[in-house]
Amino acid sequence: MRVLVTGGAGFIGSHFVRRLVAGGDSVVVLDKLTYAGNPANLEGIEHEFVHGDIADPVAVATATAGCAAIVNFAAETHVDRSILGPMEFVHTDVLGTMCLLEAARETDARFVQVSTDEVYGDLEAGGRAQEGDPLRPSSPYSAAKAGGDLQVLAYVRTYGVHASITRGANTYGPNQYPEKLVPLFTTNAMEGEPLPVYGDGKQVREWLHAEDHCAGIELVLREGAPGEVYNVGGEDHENIEITHRILELTGADPSLVRHVEDRAGHDRRYALDDSKLRALGWQPQHSFGEGGLPATVDWYRDNRSWWEPIKSGAYRAYYDEQYANRLKA
Ligand code: NAD
Ligand code: TYD
Repeated sequence: MRVLVTGGAGFIGSHFVRRLVAGGDSVVVLDKLTYAGNPANLEGIEHEFVHGDIADPVAVATATAGCAAIVNFAAETHVDRSILGPMEFVHTDVLGTMCLLEAARETDARFVQVSTDEVYGDLEAGGRAQEGDPLRPSSPYSAAKAGGDLQVLAYVRTYGVHASITRGANTYGPNQYPEKLVPLFTTNAMEGEPLPVYGDGKQVREWLHAEDHCAGIELVLREGAPGEVYNVGGEDHENIEITHRILELTGADPSLVRHVEDRAGHDRRYALDDSKLRALGWQPQHSFGEGGLPATVDWYRDNRSWWEPIKSGAYRAYYDEQYANRLKA
């Protein structure tokens, strides 16, 4: 099958491209190469590349030509950046998704929208979000992703587009841009820089390896039903627990941990009921604590040439805007 993977130069998208190509599919990547897009993530993987914006109908028409399926990973993805500047999130995560849906409508391509557990908002201790639960997004990022999801469901019902949605948990693994918790704290620990824990650090996330996440998305691409949503869950841990585990794995000094001013609107807990995807045969292969996190830390230790150049220039400006005052206080 010829598949269009948007956002294929990013973190999870590049794992997905590698997986499809290894399985014998041919892949076209459409990517705008924002700060988060990195051609190095696709090195050595055979694919066609279209440099463009998913919200640009001309770029989308070029990229979708001859494709039987579209899997949409392209997005602005970082909650903290959405708090600093939300408009770009609507451009890509809502309008971009709609532009791809228009292409799927025209070409009859199968469509998979890669979404997030964050659209459900935070949950009380003990509860787990099911696919039919109301959407209660808290951040400009999750609100934009929820907007994209609702358009997907509207296109299924109104135009009969053959689209499904996955909602994945917090994902970790090699090649993740060092702004999210695991790669930021791992690389900061390796550089002897502070680890800025928001608030008390007792927020809970589910952690899902990128390869397990991609296995779930591929299953939905092949066997998911139109108009259906599938949660892709992970292993739950508090942020502070992960922080201490990263210190152990890197051998960094515990005094690097700094509790800083909390994120605005910070969701306390995410948890997914993923029994629907498991019933299709999905099962995660990586345990976070046992193998997944140590192997990821090893990857960052062995691939400094991948992340060191990223942590300069525009990254530095973002980092200072986000953390300088917090770390001074
Ligand atoms: P990422 O930030 O690493 O990469 C995003 C990619 O999209 C980059 O290559 C970027 O250049 C590209 N892109 C951004 N705007 C674009 C545009 N307008 N047109 C074309 N390309 C554009 O993202 P990620 O963490 O790999 O996330 C991929 C998808 O998975 C996103 O849709 C995200 O919402 C979803 N998701 C992520 C996580 C997570 O923990 N990272 C969890 C659940 C769901
Ligand atoms: P993040 O990796 O940004 O993912 P998300 O916001 O999508 O869950 O954050 C994961 C958790 O880690 C979240 O509760 C916020 C927290 N966090 C910090 O405490 N400090 C940080 O510097 C970052 C980036 C995140």
